[in-house]
Amino acid sequence: MTKIIVANWKMCGSPESAKLWAVSFLPALSKLKTANKIIVCPPAPLISQLKNELTGSIVKIGAQNCHFQPEDAYTGEICASLLKACGCEYVIVGHSERRSYFNETNEIVRRKAARAIKIGLTPIICIGESEEQKNSGKTIEVINQQLAESIPSEAKSGDFIVAYEPVWAIGSGKIPSLEEIKQVHQAILTNISSSMAIDIKKISVLYGGSVKADNAKDIMAMPEVSGVLVGGASLKADEFVKIVAGG
Ligand code: PGA
Repeated sequence: MTKIIVANWKMCGSPESAKLWAVSFLPALSKLKTANKIIVCPPAPLISQLKNELTGSIVKIGAQNCHFQPEDAYTGEICASLLKACGCEYVIVGHSERRSYFNETNEIVRRKAARAIKIGLTPIICIGESEEQKNSGKTIEVINQQLAESIPSEAKSGDFIVAYEPVWAIGSGKIPSLEEIKQVHQAILTNISSSMAIDIKKISVLYGGSVKADNAKDIMAMPEVSGVLVGGASLKADEFVKIVAGG
């Protein structure tokens, strides 16, 4: 089964390191002959460079954020249409770091996703519960509210990807059990399919949070998991190749 593997470089990388990453990743990737879909989301200034370096490969480019407004006077922001013009096909919206450090609400995330869809980018809409919410048994309640408020109502089948990233698993080395991942993914699939009348087989839900080469295979083997969103481990080309190979 084809899986989607997304690299989120966050605020890391440089023109030199991106070049080295591509030079080491691409030959290893071509040896794999994988059918998996691979998307790399570098910091915005590296998008055009990486797009050029990955030309001719199966790797697609995504951004980590966009504004919800079309091109206009918003100093410091990046509009979705510019990302598309620079070669992006995807954009991550609502990552927990943006929700917590930049006060992005579900409403802001929904507006960003709507803008992305409108101009032809696929938003990767991130949701996930905090450790406190998990410990008080609120995971499914939180997830359901985030889904209801973060996915644009006009979105159709295939317009968007959801990434389930428990906040407490991001960058911590801790991951939920496979059974927990399965249960939350099932809940997400059921929610989207019933609230938006989308065929469950056409909904993509990625898992993210401390995915590494040694756990990716088991996570991606689950039918409820469409792929993985990888932060820290995606910066090392050799580790990322192993993750891609595991899927
Ligand atoms: P991590 O980050 O793989 O470093 O835990 C995942 C993410 O934040 O998307």
